[in-house]
Amino acid sequence: MARYSRITGTGSYLPPRRLTNADLANELAGRGVETSDEWIVERTGIRARHFAAADVSTSDLALQACQSALDAAQLRAADIDLIIVATSTPDMVFPSAACILQNKLGVAGCPAFDVQAVCSGFVYALTVADAMIKTGAANKALVVGAEVFSRILDFSDRTTCVLFGDGAGAVVLEASDTPGILASDLHADGKHVGILCVPGNVSGGKVLGDALLKMDGQAVFKLAVGVLESSARATLAKAGLQEADIDWLIPHQANIRIMQSTAKKLKLPLEKLVVTVDQHGNTSAASIPLALDTAVRSGKINKGDTLMLEGVGGGFTWGAVVLNY
Ligand code: UT7
Repeated sequence: MARYSRITGTGSYLPPRRLTNADLANELAGRGVETSDEWIVERTGIRARHFAAADVSTSDLALQACQSALDAAQLRAADIDLIIVATSTPDMVFPSAACILQNKLGVAGCPAFDVQAVCSGFVYALTVADAMIKTGAANKALVVGAEVFSRILDFSDRTTCVLFGDGAGAVVLEASDTPGILASDLHADGKHVGILCVPGNVSGGKVLGDALLKMDGQAVFKLAVGVLESSARATLAKAGLQEADIDWLIPHQANIRIMQSTAKKLKLPLEKLVVTVDQHGNTSAASIPLALDTAVRSGKINKGDTLMLEGVGGGFTWGAVVLNY
């Protein structure tokens, strides 16, 4: 019998500290950095974001999201036999956030590792977990996107620091004899490293280079609009589906203008676009599972719906997963 994987539970978590654009603009004004709610809303669609407290790490956010995904799937952590965390802001250089999360979940033994593909991390991690389930290497996986991007923001750079937030989202992906994940399509092009990066590293006990995020927003914007369309089409073709078969489009939540342009190119009505960027900002690898869980819990997404998840970000990386929920 064919073996597939399907999502059986979703969860998410946002740290309690919420800053509206006005709150952030006030804080930045204290540092001599000028921005406004009007600029941020008009250029990005973002209205608020959450920042984690200083003693809270990626694995803490991931733990909360996983517990809620496990509850939704009616499973216990001990039932899980694979943990993959997509993150670019792990707790430590090593070990992985996934190993730290595993310990916080109170379990041991199953493989646990991080996937680093920046804002495409969740679609990369979901694709890896799907492949491992299909080959029989795993039966019940926790696939997580979790970030504390506030730690790597340059609060003197208004072109980037207003865009990002912290949070986590998770899904339980289980082996199934009916298809859940239908197709995926992943890509990277490392020649674009410089347009979105944190160009620092740890050496000899010191940070070498710059440990804060740098982005050429317009270059990223142009690339993102093109690859989100092409990877959606490639994924639909692999699954033998048409644009009209998509019930919900859940792109990486970076900028409402990019998301709406993708929906238009795919001839999807804007009502089919799941939008959380307004409330979460860009949470990198966490943005897609956060949006997914929000839409599931609000009753928008129902069993049997066809979902297109799409990531794009630093690397340059991009990709999509189409699935039957
Ligand atoms: O997560 C990975 C994927 N990331 C993305 O998808 C991000 C893609 N890029 C974008 O979303 C957009 O390029 C941004 C939102 C980052 C910028 O929007 P833009 O429409 O490309 O603005 P811009 O960079 O062309 O800047 C326009 C103006 C500039 O002023 P001048 O030179 O025209 O006088 C900026 O200095 O807006 C100014 N500006 C700001 N003003 C107020 C830039 N940031 C701010 C700010 N507040 N926060």
